[in-house]
Amino acid sequence: MGKLDVVLGLQWGDEGKGKIVDVLAGRYPAIARFQGGPNAGHSLQFEGKNFVARSIPSGIFREGSLNVIGNGVVLDPIEFRGECLDVEKMGIDPVKKLFISKKAHLILPTHRLLDAANEAAAGKGKIGSTLRGIGPTYTDKISRKGLRVGDILSPDFRKKYEKLKAIHIKQLRNLEFECNPDKEEQDWFESIEFLKKFTLVDCEYFVNDFLSKDSMLAEGAQGSLLDIDYGSYPFVTSSNTTVGGACTGLGVAPSKIGKVYGIFKAYCTRVGSGPFPTELFDETGEKIRQIGHEYGAVTGRSRRCGWLDLVALKYTCMVDGVTNLIMMKADCLDSFETIKVCTKYKVNGLETDQFPFDISADIEPIYTEFKGWHTNTTDIRREEDLPTEFKDYIAFMEKYLGVPISIISIGPDREATIER
Ligand code: IMO
Ligand code: MG
Repeated sequence: MGKLDVVLGLQWGDEGKGKIVDVLAGRYPAIARFQGGPNAGHSLQFEGKNFVARSIPSGIFREGSLNVIGNGVVLDPIEFRGECLDVEKMGIDPVKKLFISKKAHLILPTHRLLDAANEAAAGKGKIGSTLRGIGPTYTDKISRKGLRVGDILSPDFRKKYEKLKAIHIKQLRNLEFECNPDKEEQDWFESIEFLKKFTLVDCEYFVNDFLSKDSMLAEGAQGSLLDIDYGSYPFVTSSNTTVGGACTGLGVAPSKIGKVYGIFKAYCTRVGSGPFPTELFDETGEKIRQIGHEYGAVTGRSRRCGWLDLVALKYTCMVDGVTNLIMMKADCLDSFETIKVCTKYKVNGLETDQFPFDISADIEPIYTEFKGWHTNTTDIRREEDLPTEFKDYIAFMEKYLGVPISIISIGPDREATIER
């Protein structure tokens, strides 16, 4: 009997999930994505090659691995085909290794247009969406109008598509959004034909049957602070990025969940709009951005940067039931004189260590300071070789969060990883 172990980002996304899933993938015969869509950008670096996984699980390059796209995912056939062709160029046949849930929802070209139209209409209140059609697709899913992957096999598929497209055209007109809704249609239908080459599965049977024999790793996209329920609403994505999403997004009971790996960066970043209590607007923020190469893998936008927020991190550790923490990009702090972590918020003059309902309120972060270690940690491979200041910093975080840090990443390569 196997377990479903889960890997989640604990901040606002871009924590380095791609690298860690790639490291862990060698230990699991199967990897599954359970929510989100091509708004994700999971960067993998190995053998001198780079790849950004969008909808395909980051295990695709591991020999013998089986990969699943679950029902909780929203799939854009055009983007998916492009990604598969890139995988093929790297010598892997995705058709053999990838299984797709019939219940995953399809992103239509008009969903992307609606995303752009909604953002344009929101003006200053815009979310800073990746404009991949994620919000409108989940909206149609919840309002019971969506098209699912399994529908592509139906003789009525074109009719269903036209019906939904007509609704979208009305919505686009109401928003007075100038666009050509037919522009990508041919490409989309060709991509639907491509999608038919894959094995479409009843994911809940497929996954549970697999778990009756072996274990599987569920790969989260985005981060817990972008969760539709628990994130910094409304500046969030449209899916449950927290642990429960793995159950509903794959058809697996909570009792089957094993370890929950929570990934965080040694500092915070956010791309898109919304509150960010520890954001830095000074040269320290710029230094973090430069050293950490904090530019979006999907949109190329420069990421907002700030100190690590332990109030927020403790909150997401709780919501996700994290059993093992994984700290990324610790090496990016190698050259800092002083390293700060936020341990309390001051909200309306009152100190708290809880994540408030409205984090756009006036929050003053209260910091604990650490002495920098001034050592190049990238080539260190054994825990005992880490500088004392670094070890003190880790020990403080473990105590504050009440969860052990099991893996420390000190560089983008698979090898630059210390396991404890
Ligand atoms: P990975 O998986 C960082 C952000 C967007 C925007 C908000 C809503 O690479 O960590 P959406 O396109 O979902 O409607 O955008 O969420 N966002 C991400 N930020 N990493 C991601 O994915 C993100 N996916 C969405 O910037 O603020
Ligand atoms: Mg990303």
